[in-house]
Amino acid sequence: EIYYNHTLYNQTPIASTNYDRLEASAKLLLPAPAYDYAAGGAGLEKTVASNRAAFDKWQIAPRVMRPVQPRRDLSITLFNRTLPAPIVMAPVGVQTLFHSTGERATSKVFGELGLPYTLSTASSTGFSDVAASNGAGNPRWYQLYWPSDDDLTRSYLETAKANGYEVLVVTVDTWDLGWRTRDLDRGFFPFIEGVGVQIGLEDPVAHEKLGFNPLASNATMEQKQMAALYHTITTSRGISPVWENLWKLREVWGDSPILLKGVQSAEDAKLASQWGLNGVIVSNHGGRQIDGAIASLDALTSIVEAVNGSMPVGFDGGIRSGADIFKALALGADFVQLGRPILWGLAHEGEKGVRHVLKSLLAELEITVGLAGCSDLGQVNKDLVTANI
Ligand code: FNR
Repeated sequence: EIYYNHTLYNQTPIASTNYDRLEASAKLLLPAPAYDYAAGGAGLEKTVASNRAAFDKWQIAPRVMRPVQPRRDLSITLFNRTLPAPIVMAPVGVQTLFHSTGERATSKVFGELGLPYTLSTASSTGFSDVAASNGAGNPRWYQLYWPSDDDLTRSYLETAKANGYEVLVVTVDTWDLGWRTRDLDRGFFPFIEGVGVQIGLEDPVAHEKLGFNPLASNATMEQKQMAALYHTITTSRGISPVWENLWKLREVWGDSPILLKGVQSAEDAKLASQWGLNGVIVSNHGGRQIDGAIASLDALTSIVEAVNGSMPVGFDGGIRSGADIFKALALGADFVQLGRPILWGLAHEGEKGVRHVLKSLLAELEITVGLAGCSDLGQVNKDLVTANI
């Protein structure tokens, strides 16, 4: 049961229900490099700020005196599944930086609520451990940083399939790492420090290519670092994926859905459809890649128009409240992904904090949908938002 309003919210908040206060308390709980790694973005962090500011350009114009019932239906159908709400975990690497339970905690809570969990290639927990904590039969997606090595790519995708990951999300905006000034100033690179590469460390093809198993009990620290670097290098650092190679993924992934994440132009969204992709996720990686890039919400509208219902359009970047989710849906997103809010929740006692954040957002969304005059998400459309410019 995942419908909440202020009377149905069924737990004592363990942290603030307000994003800004939640982030502030997470900051006190986290080591400074971990906090900055997540909070920061590229360059002067203009895009991190624009992602937020874009939400303020739109305001909700509610309708009243409609026959809205106490419980609003937030469900959607996506890739042959009925989901209780249009909310998906954004792929986020290195989650053990934020709490020792990392991906185990986040995947568990998304599983409990029946919402899709996207596992990052840069995960600090492997495919099978995350599948186990996520729970049998729950919707699991896998995000690929596309390795330049085809054997490794095949091996990752086969392992993902074997562990019940059913949607492939190919991130196409991070084939080279952005100019992340907070991390550069600290000299903080989690991947190289051996955190967040579990998938690469576990992979049998990676072991073959390296000539050793970095997880063996007699592996030296030097070998572990080498393996971490190998993973980092082969996850296509510096080499952009191209449309012409998509068949290599399709060959292994078959007819199951493949989405492109990191699309910011209407032209690319059209190309994605022409190249046979099954959806796009409008995203600028939370402002972590190009400083001064278009705000994600600003990119959404033209992409929704270009795609014109031919495939689902996901959205992420700057969602901090249920009202923000409402705006993204009203502007045509089929589903949204959450990044930083979940990490700040994770910092508060692991799964408890994640549950708190997710249920808070669901509750606020459900209340907002109703107060705007809607009984279900089919009624949430552009007429309910107005541009404030
Ligand atoms: C990310 N993001 C990301 N994306 C991806 O495709 N693979 C990854 O491994 C990561 N890792 C990652 C780590 C951290 C610490 C953050 C904050 C983000 C980007 C993520 O999926 C998403 O696009 C943004 O986080 C969305 O913006 P918000 O919700 O954080 O504002």
